[in-house]
Amino acid sequence: MPETTPRGLTGLAFGGDYNPEQWPESVWREDVRLMREAGVTLVSVGIFSWALLEPSPGAYDFGWLDRVLDLLHENGVRVDLGTPTVVPPAWFYRAHPDALPVTARGERLAFGSRGAICHSNADYRAAAVDITTRLAERYGDHPALAMWHVHNEYGVPVSACYCDSCAAHFRRWLARAYGTVDAVNEAWGTAFWGQRYASFEEIDPPRLTPTVGNPAQALDYRRFADATMRENFTAERDVLHRLSPGIPVTTNFMTALSQCDSVDYWAWGREVDLVTNDHYLITDGRRTHVNLAMAADLTRSVAGGAPWLLLEHSTSGVNWQPRNPAKAPGQMARNSLAHVARGSEGALFFQWRQSRRGAEKFHSAMVPHGGTDTRVWREVVELGASVGSLASLRGTRTEADVAVLWDWHSWWAQNLDWRPSEDHDARERADAFYEALYDRHLTVDFAHPEADLSGHPLVVVPALYLMTRAAGDNLRAYVENGGTLVVSYFSGIVDEHDAVHEGPHPGALRDVLGLTVEEFSPLPAGGRVRLTGPGGAELDADVWTEFVVPRGAETVWTYADGLTAGHPAVTRHRLGGGTAWYVSTRLDAEGLDALLGRAAEDTPLAPRADLPRDVEVVRRTGESGTFLFAINHTATDAEVPLGTAGTELLTGGRAAGRLAVPAGAVRVVRLDG
Ligand code: GAL
Repeated sequence: MPETTPRGLTGLAFGGDYNPEQWPESVWREDVRLMREAGVTLVSVGIFSWALLEPSPGAYDFGWLDRVLDLLHENGVRVDLGTPTVVPPAWFYRAHPDALPVTARGERLAFGSRGAICHSNADYRAAAVDITTRLAERYGDHPALAMWHVHNEYGVPVSACYCDSCAAHFRRWLARAYGTVDAVNEAWGTAFWGQRYASFEEIDPPRLTPTVGNPAQALDYRRFADATMRENFTAERDVLHRLSPGIPVTTNFMTALSQCDSVDYWAWGREVDLVTNDHYLITDGRRTHVNLAMAADLTRSVAGGAPWLLLEHSTSGVNWQPRNPAKAPGQMARNSLAHVARGSEGALFFQWRQSRRGAEKFHSAMVPHGGTDTRVWREVVELGASVGSLASLRGTRTEADVAVLWDWHSWWAQNLDWRPSEDHDARERADAFYEALYDRHLTVDFAHPEADLSGHPLVVVPALYLMTRAAGDNLRAYVENGGTLVVSYFSGIVDEHDAVHEGPHPGALRDVLGLTVEEFSPLPAGGRVRLTGPGGAELDADVWTEFVVPRGAETVWTYADGLTAGHPAVTRHRLGGGTAWYVSTRLDAEGLDALLGRAAEDTPLAPRADLPRDVEVVRRTGESGTFLFAINHTATDAEVPLGTAGTELLTGGRAAGRLAVPAGAVRVVRLDG
């Protein structure tokens, strides 16, 4: 069995992507000296090196990589070795131009960047397995090897190819999934607009059409493209397992990035030995530490609650947004340790040394252009020491309070064209509900809609448009058995083929919610509605309203104006031992807090009113003890109740009663007992 943690590490991992091939060998010596100074324990090597390792077809040059691995080993740095299959060499594309991907518009993309791959291409597949085999044969038992890093961020920058090889592969995939073409016709509803197919041969990828194409076809193409990338991952993984037994194999995910919604990480999480993630702050004005917490929680959930590893984040600014602010002093450490609090077994960066050339020369790094007499370097060294002091929490697990349902297939379906309102954004609702839970200091586990939810007193469904019958039954059983459910509008509407569930909306959830929705009534751009609720309290909402007909549910908030005035806006349904809440409009932060506050009263969850806003408190527990993380994202000193006494690991001091967390600081207390 492959191991599930990087081999040879005794503490947490600290380091980054190391690209020595961009530098003369004289710099490598300085690199390892500085790595030791910073407490680096793990680096990712060779991710983009195919052209250097195989400069011409079948001719290999491993000498430089031998020297890099030996040097790292001599200096006690472990290696996460890349298979370089995200960028085949230029000569490969000259020989196999068909391996370049084609867009839905029919344009073939060119070599000269990265990730230009048609995953159905047989020549690419063979070449990827070949270079992986060569690497595994040469380095499979190298003493520096800690883990394998297959490819890079599957799904970006190309999430699907629409070429003829993919068309043929798609037909085979459909034949396996459906058996007969009539089953495809039925699932896709091809009676609509005369799209019926008489044979698999007539089916193409969802290429550019005059107007909206078949939504079920587009949804299946997403599934196909995802499965095809996974086939290529598992082909490489199996080679590595065979030739490098025991060493864990991963590929770096980007779980919470909305631009990277093309892979179903629930499925991928089952294929890797160790879940790893890349996370970058999106600086669009929202609270970046909340988005970070969400990404970390989602990654842990994809790992089934097990420890995972943050493989990339940035020391300071990135260089691919319209504006790329530097991180504030202390922000890097807060970011890194927030990932650790939520289950990461370390913190790695992109990248070790800032590149002088190429597209990412303005992206921050551990060793910046300015060298070691810089704030970034000093903070890197300090963080390395902090991470080093946390070795004892290895293997512990983050404790969660509530569950939020999450399903990539539902995003795919919901983001198809011609929906009731372009202002409704499922991801926005997920972010907003997450933020409301974060502000109530509740730690979130994400869960697949068909997963066992019984361990969670509260389950939130932000906007899960596609929901199978099985998922609906699962939620019903959860509530009947005593759970509290909160469901946001436009959930449970269609089945796995994007077909509306039979009968009134929301087909998968009518019973559990005790209501039907007669009609959606999205608001005009900028439109708002008011809701009146318990004790005359008013809430504000926008984007979406509905005509809700209670069929067992009680009305808690009512629309006060607009087309739906007088109709229920928020309802509550007692079912068996539990309660199901429904909100039929887009509440703002205040409204979501009011809703979750009411719903929480139906649960045993105790309010955490004594914790200040933006002071993040998370616990990891396991055989080595219970560790409380307190991360102060504010500019004001704060205090956090500890409940008991303990040892603060970053400063070595004792803490009891109330823990002081200075402005911008992180504290990690190992609780006594
Ligand atoms: C990641 C990628 C890295 C680097 C980084 C920059 O998505 O894996 O190679 O490009 O972004 O932020």
